[in-house]
Amino acid sequence: MSIEIPDGLTELLQSFTVEVLRNQPGDLVEFALHYFIQLKEHQSASACHHGNTRGGGGEGGNSMQIDSENDDDDEEFVAPVINRFLRRSSVCAEAINLNEEEEDEDPRITHPKSDEQRHRLQEACRNILLFKNLDLEQMSQILDAMFEKPVAAGEHIIDQGDDGDNFYVIESGTFDIVLTADGVDRVVGAYYHQGSFGELALMYNTPRAATIIATSEGALWCMDRQTFRRIIVKNNYKKRETYEAFIKSLPLLTSLVVSERMCVVDVLSSKSYADGEQIISQGDLADCFYIVESGQVRIAMKRTKTKKEEEEEMQIATCTSGQYFGELALVTNKPRAASAYAIGDVKCLVMDVQAFERLLGPCMDIMKRNIVNYEEQLAALFEDTANIPDNTT
Ligand code: CMP
Ligand code: CMP
Repeated sequence: MSIEIPDGLTELLQSFTVEVLRNQPGDLVEFALHYFIQLKEHQSASACHHGNTRGGGGEGGNSMQIDSENDDDDEEFVAPVINRFLRRSSVCAEAINLNEEEEDEDPRITHPKSDEQRHRLQEACRNILLFKNLDLEQMSQILDAMFEKPVAAGEHIIDQGDDGDNFYVIESGTFDIVLTADGVDRVVGAYYHQGSFGELALMYNTPRAATIIATSEGALWCMDRQTFRRIIVKNNYKKRETYEAFIKSLPLLTSLVVSERMCVVDVLSSKSYADGEQIISQGDLADCFYIVESGQVRIAMKRTKTKKEEEEEMQIATCTSGQYFGELALVTNKPRAASAYAIGDVKCLVMDVQAFERLLGPCMDIMKRNIVNYEEQLAALFEDTANIPDNTT
């Protein structure tokens, strides 16, 4: 008697086994349940968006590989299904392949620019985290490929569910981020004259995860999908290799499964600081979250909320490798409660507020527990408790 192995069984079990080995779950049955429900949900979603997805897709719909020039670069990529703060990102793995057409096309795309345009573009790109770890040649190819787009108030730059065409860097203007679920639109955030958006559909080959609407006149710099994938996505593989072990070791991220942590790596960028350099300034508006990669960071606070120059700062904490800071202002929507300075040479992994809200919801319990401790810590440090800066509520 011959036993027939159903199509897809081997791939299905292989993918599941890989996830088990990566996640090392305590309860295998519970994990399996979660895994297969997610897989089913994702298959249904993929079926709905079948006509929208690009890049050739992948067999079985649950393993995502890029065929790069270097086979060693091949890596499983995991696409998050998007949500907002405090809600768990459901995660699914989807296949993306740089198909032959993509590989064969002339990789260089150039939009000629005047000196003045190039200067404005460089300014707009200066703080874009996704560009931080690129080398000079990659950055120059990106600047060549970008083109300018004026926008009018009310214009939809991106519509949720659409195919991903461009990645956008904001030069000026304000933009709402709108999520539609069950037919209801919710504004979940906004960009004010800086930042970037539109990376998710290009990174993970998924439909657009949100709608972006201009709420004022403005100007955007756009990067085509092909250049984005050729440079940024490939660069992200290297980042995953570099940071995989470190990210897996972080206590803050224990609530995230490994695939979710890899999505965190995709949006992090590494920044270096010299001894004494200020990383965060008390009272400033906040747009980033930090994880110490190496070195030490001193957290210091002035007693009152006013920024009096003559007032002395008290050191209140030190963060070392693997610890985080800069979450409080993002969680409470308040200005920075304290300042942060490098002690010696420091490297931090930095994430922007949109990614923080999108990806770290499941880690909020741990953060909130630490935030509660801040009050006690301050009470002990500032003996005059009446003067404790109220920064956590
Ligand atoms: P993309 O899915 O390509 O298109 C919509 C973009 O909105 C998305 O990439 C992100 O860059 C951006 N965005 C910002 N906040 C969110 C959010 N909470 N959920 C989904 N997308 C978001
Ligand atoms: P944030 O307010 O965004 O910027 C300053 C950071 O200092 C703050 O987030 C916390 O991450 C960190 N910090 C460490 N200890 C304290 C404390 N006792 N009170 C407030 N912030 C603290």
